Amino acid sequence: MFDNFPLWPDRASTAAGNVDALFVFLIIVSGLMTALIFAAIIYFAARYRRRRGVFAEQIEGSTPLEITWSIIPLFVFMVIFAWGAVVYFKSRTPPRDSTEVYVVAKQWMWKLEHAEGQREINELHVPVGRDVKLIMTSQDVIHSFYIPAFRMKQDVLPGRYTVAWFRATKPGTYHLFCAEYCGTQHSGMIGSIVVQEPAQYEAWMSGGTTGPLSATGEKIFAELGCVTCHRTDTQGRGPNLQGVFGKPVQLEDGRTLTADENYIRESILDPGAKVVKGFKPVMPTFQGLVSEEQLNALVAFVKSQSQPGPAGAQTAGAKTATAPQDKAPAEGSQVQ
Ligand code: CUA
Repeated sequence: MFDNFPLWPDRASTAAGNVDALFVFLIIVSGLMTALIFAAIIYFAARYRRRRGVFAEQIEGSTPLEITWSIIPLFVFMVIFAWGAVVYFKSRTPPRDSTEVYVVAKQWMWKLEHAEGQREINELHVPVGRDVKLIMTSQDVIHSFYIPAFRMKQDVLPGRYTVAWFRATKPGTYHLFCAEYCGTQHSGMIGSIVVQEPAQYEAWMSGGTTGPLSATGEKIFAELGCVTCHRTDTQGRGPNLQGVFGKPVQLEDGRTLTADENYIRESILDPGAKVVKGFKPVMPTFQGLVSEEQLNALVAFVKSQSQPGPAGAQTAGAKTATAPQDKAPAEGSQVQ
């Protein structure tokens, strides 16, 4: 309804309508309250102005009145709370089977890498109508990934992953901003999101690539010698990584957690922090030895080891004895 209203940014994602509706509701409620308060001020100022021969009368409180003006605002605020919580929860929870894009922010650019291996700088190509999950980290200071047309904004922090997602609904080119002051060139840390029709997108995707990110990760996994301990049989000094991602992991100290992107990341940079039950803290740290891009590739590789299909998610459990795979999948077969 505001599509031609120049103050309103484009509305190009599934989240945009929900966010706008809540925003409009908040403006209307605030506007009504403001009007009500001003009307009361003006009315009372006129009605009870000082007049000759008229004296002020003391009145007692009124319980029904006080209850009314407590209950009604409470109800309104609970509506805002519940509505806001639903919108927030939706925007915080990437749907399963989202297409994944790794984002590395640095002073002062955005580096993006598709799971399929395509790399971009300050530009992100996405297909219309598909869920896209962003797994983001920063090489230096805090940045913030902001796409106004998608009503999506997420801080990007050094030392950990933050996640955001969107589903574009309209082909076009949209602004990407950094929304967190990050140094002198902060205002220049901008880019564009190019939303394409699926066919166009496929054509773009088939352009030059270095192969899937997980394959790059597999290569790094071999080069760094990770394979010698993280074996797919039971003899490894480190846990078997097949089927680990997204599953609960029992730790040596009795805790249980879910193996997500941040856990994999931490286990590479600070292996002693959360040692898997049944293993010794013998793994050296790779802090300083791998770049953010290489870390992303390693995370993508570990993830690919848990994808359903020939790469085998059925072998869940760190210490489950598994026979080496007899069917050689397209990738992921060298890790023995
Ligand atoms: Cu990056 Cu501001």
